[in-house]
Amino acid sequence: MDARSLKIAAAKVALDQVENGMRLGIGSGSTAEEFVQLLGEKVAEGFEVQGVPTSERTARLCLELGVPLFSLDELPQLDLTIDGADEVDPKLNLIKGGGGAHLREKIVAAASDRMIVIADESKLVDELGAFPLPIEVMPFGMTSTLIHIEALASGLGLAGDIVQRQRQRDERSEAYVTDGGHFILDASFGRIPDAEALANGLAAIPGVVEHGLFLNMATAAIIASPAGVRMLNA
Ligand code: A5P
Repeated sequence: MDARSLKIAAAKVALDQVENGMRLGIGSGSTAEEFVQLLGEKVAEGFEVQGVPTSERTARLCLELGVPLFSLDELPQLDLTIDGADEVDPKLNLIKGGGGAHLREKIVAAASDRMIVIADESKLVDELGAFPLPIEVMPFGMTSTLIHIEALASGLGLAGDIVQRQRQRDERSEAYVTDGGHFILDASFGRIPDAEALANGLAAIPGVVEHGLFLNMATAAIIASPAGVRMLNA
């Protein structure tokens, strides 16, 4: 089974969790986009859902497929969010933001009664941190913010490069800019033994807009492997 088939398998099981008329947070990334494709097919058959997208990219895909969209201010409380993840630990704590959408993803997840993560088994880890942690920061004073983050990391015994995310445009490299107009620092700590201390420390740094640690937010994870799809509950 190839990677895409696993994502589709997880997305199919997630679709079964969506009930007619639900207010639904719709995630970002390649796995979430497989879910949106399936949701679009169901909506075309008459299924009703009120979607709140977590990125401009997801919003465009939903509009192409006819999935009705609302802003989070129009629907400030959601029944369910379905989203991908970059890492999932045994307690269903997550690293997200590989696609740069974790700020809106976290706001939408926090507005939802339930958050279900969809992923292939390669995302399962014993401990978070092998995937570089995305930290969204204000462009203003980014170097000062970085110094604070490095001091926090050092105090927690975390080592590793923290680099500003770039993107390629017309064969040139330029700063990656999020939907919110911010920059991203990717922190390659390797392992994060105390994710709660890191999350609290990052949240206290002026200039940090949001980080990709999603702790105690996912209520379930649908994990696809060649052997089948299983649901893990928090
Ligand atoms: C988007 O910013 C991320 O949080 C994604 O949910 C995450 O990167 C997973 O993406 P894939 O499904 O493409 O691996």
